[in-house]
Amino acid sequence: MSAPRRNVELKATDPDPARSLAVCLELGAADEGTLFQRDTYFRVPEGRLKLREQEPGGAVLIQYRRADRPEARESRYRLIEVEDAGATRSALDEALGTLAIVEKERRLLLWEGVRIHLDKVEGLGSFVELEGVAPERSDLSGEHDRVARLTEALGIEDSTILSDSYSDLVLAAAEGGREQLIAAARGALERAYAPYSRYRVGVALRAPDGSVHVGANVENAAYPLGNCAEASAIGAMVAAGRTKIVEAAVIGDGEEPCVPCGGCRQRLREFMPLDATVHLIAEKGARASMTLEELLPRSFGPEYLP
Ligand code: THU
Repeated sequence: MSAPRRNVELKATDPDPARSLAVCLELGAADEGTLFQRDTYFRVPEGRLKLREQEPGGAVLIQYRRADRPEARESRYRLIEVEDAGATRSALDEALGTLAIVEKERRLLLWEGVRIHLDKVEGLGSFVELEGVAPERSDLSGEHDRVARLTEALGIEDSTILSDSYSDLVLAAAEGGREQLIAAARGALERAYAPYSRYRVGVALRAPDGSVHVGANVENAAYPLGNCAEASAIGAMVAAGRTKIVEAAVIGDGEEPCVPCGGCRQRLREFMPLDATVHLIAEKGARASMTLEELLPRSFGPEYLP
């Protein structure tokens, strides 16, 4: 099971998955049904290593290498069956760190030794992937030929072909999301009312549905009545009907990344899982990111109450 294998691969965005499915069936591809896959990619110095947990089916550890080139290219990979997926995931996460998690629904079809994947990837959209699986001594020309025939039949245009793995696309989307969150927090900072401290703070909170809620600090001539930006942002989020935070950004004036005060760490704790990330930003540019648990270790939360 663990000897290296080879295939010829091609991945593209799929503007019309229903049409792709119809084309595959028309070609006589065997429909193997729908699979739900959760891939955890670990940080490794070379190639890629991911744990795939699949329903129906079990778990496999997949190690592979391929050039990040768009055209159909060779990939070498190993599959290792895993009995205890949870323990394997925790061990690799502790040892190497997790790079990205990719969840998808995959319609699997088989045509002349080519695996056709019609993938709906969470947060990314629809893709078609072709994998011409090569027998041991193949010179790969037959696999290239069959992948090319399918590429044509499916009408896959060059401009839609991708060289990145789903993990890279997920990471790029997360990076884009983070920058958008920080920009929203910065906008709130610019609207802060902080005439007494002259320390403006802006906060942006992302809810699980992707919505972003912002708040700024609001001071008062009667000083103790001032509100922190986190409290304002949480108020805006709750008023918008959301009570969960998946990611937060806090930005404050000055050179040093703004850290939430003790009270606001507890405020966030009410709505945010301990492993979710808080970005700490200085208006002048310095940054740090950490989990809520790092900001507020051994904390008290709603689950303590009866
Ligand atoms: N401030 C916040 O808005 N959030 C924090 O977590 C730290 C402090 C504000 C409150 C006050 O308006 C100003 O910063 C100075 O304390």
